[in-house]
Amino acid sequence: MKESGADERKSDERTDPGAIRHGNFMNYYQFHPAEERVRQLPRGVWQRQRVAHPARKYAGLDVGCNAGDLTYVLRDFLEEAMSQDRPEVSLIGVDLDPVLIEKARERNPRPERLTFECLDFLSEDCDGMLRRYLAKLDKARFDVVFCFSITMWIHLNHGDGGLEEFLRRACELADMIVVEPQSWRCYRNASRRLRRAKLGDFPLLKELKYTSDPMKHIEDILRGPCGFRRVTVTAGNEWGRMLLIYERKPEE
Ligand SMILES: C[S@@+](CC[C@H](N)C(=O)[O-])C[C@H]1O[C@@H](n2cnc3c(N)ncnc32)[C@H](O)[C@@H]1O
Repeated sequence: MKESGADERKSDERTDPGAIRHGNFMNYYQFHPAEERVRQLPRGVWQRQRVAHPARKYAGLDVGCNAGDLTYVLRDFLEEAMSQDRPEVSLIGVDLDPVLIEKARERNPRPERLTFECLDFLSEDCDGMLRRYLAKLDKARFDVVFCFSITMWIHLNHGDGGLEEFLRRACELADMIVVEPQSWRCYRNASRRLRRAKLGDFPLLKELKYTSDPMKHIEDILRGPCGFRRVTVTAGNEWGRMLLIYERKPEE
């Protein structure tokens, strides 16, 4: 029997692939091509206060790397942007979704320079694994930590305190950080899609105090508790998202 229009809509809603709790979309890069995202990055900022490493090793972390497409392109971008210095650029991507990490590993174009691990960034296991990764490269911190389109999911699932904890952890591991925050409108969309799919809202949404302008709150956290300073903020990309680029202040 054919479903009526209303029933069809209902079943669409139940199966909406965008009704998701952690942003672990399966076909994300069909809608947000990685190459276009990298075009937004400035070229001359990546080695600002870097103490030249004897072996010219440059290490990056991509938090919430999804299926790895953006991580692959970021590594090539950094290698190209610093080509004068010819560093050895290695990146590690972490994501909490095992299926996405499997996809990232299967298609990994540079296994000797790109590593993928399935971990929740807020877990102690993740911190330990990242510190071991750095130790192998003989480094204390990552030259850059990328947090593209992940802050909203952390904020919705872990609240205001969780967002601050997330940024603190990322900054502790970083000399430079790149954050691409989602707008408050995206928070409302994510909540609406869960509710429409009858999956239950984000329990902490109503308790959030950092509402309406997430980018401002993120900049306040980066400057305040994290003690970082602004390098630059890019213009919005075609879906309106800007990149906040901050760095560790030099030690006095
Ligand atoms: C919207 S996607 C963004 C993917 C990628 N950063 C980009 O912008 O192209 C957000 C990703 O963050 C991951 N994620 C969410 N919370 C996480 C956490 N606590 N630890 C690790 N990954 C997380 C999700 O699984 C998802 O793949």
